[in-house]
Amino acid sequence: MADRVRIYEVGPRDGLQNESTAIPLETKRGFVERLVSAGLREIEATSFVSPRAIPQLADADALLPTLPQEAGLRYPVLVPNERGMARAEAAGAEALAVFTAATDAFTEHNIGMTIDESLAAFEPVLRRATDLGWWRRAYVSTAFGCPYTGAVDPHQAVNVAARLLELGIDEVCFGDTIGVGVPGQVTALTDAATGAGIELRQIAYHFHDTRGTALANVVAGLEAGVRTFDSSTGGTGSCPYAPGAAGNLATEDLVYLLDASGFEHGVDLEQVLDAARFITAALGRPLATKVGQAGGWDAATGRPIGR
Ligand code: COA
Ligand code: ZN
Repeated sequence: MADRVRIYEVGPRDGLQNESTAIPLETKRGFVERLVSAGLREIEATSFVSPRAIPQLADADALLPTLPQEAGLRYPVLVPNERGMARAEAAGAEALAVFTAATDAFTEHNIGMTIDESLAAFEPVLRRATDLGWWRRAYVSTAFGCPYTGAVDPHQAVNVAARLLELGIDEVCFGDTIGVGVPGQVTALTDAATGAGIELRQIAYHFHDTRGTALANVVAGLEAGVRTFDSSTGGTGSCPYAPGAAGNLATEDLVYLLDASGFEHGVDLEQVLDAARFITAALGRPLATKVGQAGGWDAATGRPIGR
């Protein structure tokens, strides 16, 4: 089991939330269907946030009930407050993610709350989700650096994570929202987290490849014992409140690294590439990720895979 990695797909939510042209519900569902076919089992499907804040995901209530249902599939949805929780419940959600940050400046831009205020808003949401037996994740954004205040001390991120764990979550996901982190920071943050009593299985990482460091950061996470990583098929996505935040780590790039390094994850590269082509075509863009362009590589024949 130590060599098994969970790939947590964020394409349908993080990948699409900042796209300005409206993507039809059928296209979103088609994307999720292809992700499921590829073997992804945790797919962050949408957000029950204010439609004014994120117009692209305003169809969350209609979309979620139409997604394929199979045993072992989990569709976490982003929930910022009790209003969002009521919508998520009505739409049949069974897993959620709440989101705050390591810095007040970022949460204030993103959700109009300080960290303390965000935790107060999540408290009833997480209590309700716990009562309902939902799986619960919390994001700590800007864990490696903030677009408004600069460097972030790892203990700052860990303190927020520890408070979230007290509210009742299954997993904390540290986000490199603007893609400034380097491997030494991943090691330091993982050490700080475990030093504060957070278990490795409770930690996930969400890297952005903005400056080309995402896969190096994954390797640092793997070496530190973390086994859950977020990625976005096709490499789409950025946060509208994080200036300069381009490019989630692409699922196809992550799958290539994990395959070639001997980690099990249950995801098929060719089918991920199919899903990546589907969504980038729908967005009217070429598939620009590394493995999207080069394909995978078959060590038995020396030939590219899925190009
Ligand atoms: N679902 C739908 N509508 C919601 C809502 C939700 N979860 N939460 C608030 N609203 C509506 C309110 O009803 C209100 O609408 P009205 O003006 O028509 O009456 C409006 O949004 C403002 O509500 P308010 O409680 O004052 O919230 P706010 O304006 O301070 O916004 C958030 C706070 C958190 C709801 C909003 O900032 C948000 O949804 N942010 C999401 C950001 C995000 O997803 N970022 C990307 C993730 S990294
Ligand atoms: Zn992201």
